[in-house]
Amino acid sequence: MIQNGNTVGFSGFTPAGAAKAVPLALAERARGEHRAGREFRIGVMTGASTGPSLDGALSAADAISFRTPYQSDPGLRAQINEGKVQFFDMHLSMMPQAIRCGHLGPVHFAVVEACDVTDGGAIVLTDSVGASPTFCRMAERVIVELNRRHPPTLFGMHDIYEPDDPPHRREIPIYSVADRIGSPVISVSPSKIAGVVEVEMDDDSAEFSPPTPVTARIGANVADFLVREMDRGRIPKRFLPLQAGVGNVSNSVMEAIGRHDDIKPFQMYTEVLQDSVLHLIMEGRITFASACALTLSRKMQDLLYGNSDFFRARIVLRPQEITNNAEVVRRLGIISINTALEADLFGNVNSTHVMGRNMMNGIGGSGDFTRNGFLSIFVCPSTAKKGVISSIVPLVSHQDHSEHSVQVIVTEQGVADLRGLSPAERARRIIENCAHPDYRDDLREQLDSMKGGHEPLSLESAFAFHQRLRETGTMRRHERVMADAEY
Ligand code: COA
Repeated sequence: MIQNGNTVGFSGFTPAGAAKAVPLALAERARGEHRAGREFRIGVMTGASTGPSLDGALSAADAISFRTPYQSDPGLRAQINEGKVQFFDMHLSMMPQAIRCGHLGPVHFAVVEACDVTDGGAIVLTDSVGASPTFCRMAERVIVELNRRHPPTLFGMHDIYEPDDPPHRREIPIYSVADRIGSPVISVSPSKIAGVVEVEMDDDSAEFSPPTPVTARIGANVADFLVREMDRGRIPKRFLPLQAGVGNVSNSVMEAIGRHDDIKPFQMYTEVLQDSVLHLIMEGRITFASACALTLSRKMQDLLYGNSDFFRARIVLRPQEITNNAEVVRRLGIISINTALEADLFGNVNSTHVMGRNMMNGIGGSGDFTRNGFLSIFVCPSTAKKGVISSIVPLVSHQDHSEHSVQVIVTEQGVADLRGLSPAERARRIIENCAHPDYRDDLREQLDSMKGGHEPLSLESAFAFHQRLRETGTMRRHERVMADAEY
């Protein structure tokens, strides 16, 4: 049914809840077509990243022409950076509206994973919601992957809600983290359902590295900073809901906050819940979590499915348009914690492009939360790649989050609270509190050599660190680590 040139909206937000059987079959089909000398490539939309069965299989079969809004697959990443796949990196909260309003063209098929589907067209999703409600609404045809790995007892965990589009939009009536405002199912006209594919397949699991001394130190720095803010009365004593980003660093930060003695049990209003959060829910450290996906190991997934009633009372899964919604994030006063690849002396952050050129994953939801959070924090190790890269640079080589939104930067070296500071003051604080000692003198000299202007920027040396890395294989002065630098 799916033809060359079609656009397909697949369920999936991280590997959780991703369609798997249909994309694997499509990859096979693409290979056959290519062998026969025919073109076969499709546009792929999802909630966020997916795993080997979707992005991995389709990119390996050269079957993707266009991709949005987020990815983290190594093979697909390479194709994007070689210019073979056109990737549109967008704020996750904005995608459903962009689809409904036709900004991204037609959606020919929605392929969504479900744990139940009725004759009347009620679809119960599995362990993520993502953009599936909008894919189902807008697609010409819907294919359901009924995956027996996920029990129908998931019914009631989802809260499906799509806002009206401008100029008819009203407020989104979420006033506290646990509010439910929609339906437990996606309703689709049965005539639109092109087929139901019955499978029993595990989610592609997403493994995180265990905390390292550096990531554990970053986590402790964030947790201690939040406690100090509470002590000063700048965060309410009962705390505020947390959003924590994706990846190894965020995982360590959640561990540190969750285990901190001086932080009372709290709530999360975030995108993805990982194993660590489920542990904290069971221990009563997290009292309620609103998210878009449950990205769990097989063991934790079994535990959740065996205790559906317990977790249904403590977890709600919402569409990304709602989990990341600017209005709700501002109303609830979210503390957002996301990861930077690099940050500059003024507080601008690059989360996506290595050396300003090569896409890592995408902006994801980091912009949705950073721009609207009560407190917007960025974390990263002070160096990358065994120290040859300083994460604190004179000017970021690509900008995702501007100095106007980024409030606090935290590395294993310490915390730079940038609120209320001028650019020159910010630069000094970031160097002294966050930069690695190996790079501080160089950064100080750069700053001291700049005279005048509101923002002490030198056009001549703005990219001196990056150029040095490209030429010598390290950002450190007077060193050369590679004969042929790989950047
Ligand atoms: N230059 C080059 N490479 C860098 C780098 C830099 N300045 N900083 C980090 N890296 C590399 C690391 O070396 C690592 O590479 P490897 O996989 O080859 O070892 C990789 O980037 C990931 O870094 P890591 O330190 O393991 O961090 P992470 O797993 O926490 O991921 C991001 C960090 C920024 C890539 C990830 O958080 C991301 O994609 N963020 C954007 C989207 C987002 O924030 N979503 C959440 C919103 S809710």
